Amino acid sequence: MAILEVKHLSVQFDTQDGQVFAVNDLGFRLEKGQTLGVVGESGSGKSQSVLALMGLLARNGRASGEALYQGRNLLTLPQAELNRIRGNRIAMIFQDPMTSLNPYLTVERQLTEVLQFHKGLDRKSARAQSLRLLDAVKIPDAARRMDMYPHAFSGGMRQRVMIAMALLCEPELLIADEPTTALDVTVQAQIIALLRELQRDFGTAIVLITHDLGVVAGLCDQVLVLYGGRAMELGSADHLFTNAGHPYSCGLLRAIPRMDRDRADLLTIPGAPPNMAHPPSGCPFQPRCAAAQPQCSTLPALQEEAGRPGVLRACHVPSAQVQLRYQEESRHD
Ligand SMILES: Nc1ncnc2c1ncn2[C@@H]1O[C@H](COP(=O)(O)OP(=O)(O)OP(=O)(O)O)[C@@H](O)[C@H]1O
Ligand SMILES: [Mg+2]
Repeated sequence: MAILEVKHLSVQFDTQDGQVFAVNDLGFRLEKGQTLGVVGESGSGKSQSVLALMGLLARNGRASGEALYQGRNLLTLPQAELNRIRGNRIAMIFQDPMTSLNPYLTVERQLTEVLQFHKGLDRKSARAQSLRLLDAVKIPDAARRMDMYPHAFSGGMRQRVMIAMALLCEPELLIADEPTTALDVTVQAQIIALLRELQRDFGTAIVLITHDLGVVAGLCDQVLVLYGGRAMELGSADHLFTNAGHPYSCGLLRAIPRMDRDRADLLTIPGAPPNMAHPPSGCPFQPRCAAAQPQCSTLPALQEEAGRPGVLRACHVPSAQVQLRYQEESRHD
C-alpha cells in the first residue's frame, strides 16, 4: 500500500478579488522509502499542496479532494488526530528554519519536547535520543551545542537542527519544502547528502519541493512538474531528464545553468505564470509554449501515454513533436 495517495486535491483561497485557484485536481502516490520531487516556478502551487496535506493552510484557504495516509483522509481528520500524526508519523521541514524553531527555547528543549509529547519519553531519555539525532545530522560537538539557543547556530546548522527535529520520531513521511534554498551551494550539497543517508537508514518516504533540478537529480525517484497549480507531467526522474515530453518540463530543463555558460546566461522561460485568480480555460502553459497548437485552447487531460507506462502528461501535442520543437529552440541558445 502507498504511504500517501493524493487524489483530486484542490486548494482555493477566498480573497477580496474573488477566488484564487492555487491547486487544481492534483494526484500522486508515494511508496515507502521513495522520494517524490515537486518542481515548478514560483507560485505554481508547490507549498500550498503540501500545506493542505498537513492542515496548515492560511485561514482563507480551503482544500478538497483526498489525501490518504494509511487509508485515512488527512483532509477530513479531526484536529486532535492530525496533531498526533503531524510531527510524529508525518514531519515537515520548511525553507526557513526560524519558522519552526522557537528562538526563546534551547535546541535541547525543543527537541526533547517533541519526544515527550509524541512518545511520552522522560526528559533524560528524550535528551539522549535528541543527541543521537543531532549526531546523525552531523552537528559538531552536539552535546554542548544543544544547550544553546537557535540564534547561536549558522543557517546551515539550523537547517540540520530542523531536519533532526523532523526525524526525531522516525516519521514514515517527510515533507521538505525547499530545504536548501536559503543555503550556499556547499551546504546545500551536504544537506542533500544527509537526506539521502537518513532516507537509507530510516526508510523514510520524502516529498521534496524544490526549484532546483540538480537536487531532483540527486535525490528523487519520481518527479511531479507543476504549473498553474496543475500537474503537467509526472514520471520517474530518469524519464524527466532523458525523455521529458511536456513543453513546460522541456522549458525548465533548458533553464538549468550549464557549466559551459555564464551564470548570467541562465535561460528563463519567456513570459509569466498565469494569474490564478483568473485561470485560463485551456492549457495554462499555452501562452508561453513553443509547441502550442489551436487545440491547446481546451484543457488537456493528464493521461498515460502509449508506450510510456508510468508517465503521465497533460498536453495535446505528441511528445515527440514537443521534443523536436524544444530541440530546435535549444539550437538558438
Ligand atoms: N493566503 C492566501 N491567499 C490568497 N492566495 C494565496 C494565499 N497563499 C498562497 N496563495 C496563492 O497560491 C498560489 C500558489 O502558492 P504557493 O505558495 O503554493 O506557490 P509555490 O509554488 O510554493 O511558490 P514558491 O516557489 O514561490 O514558494 C500563488 O498564486 C499564491 O499567491
Ligand atoms: Mg513555496
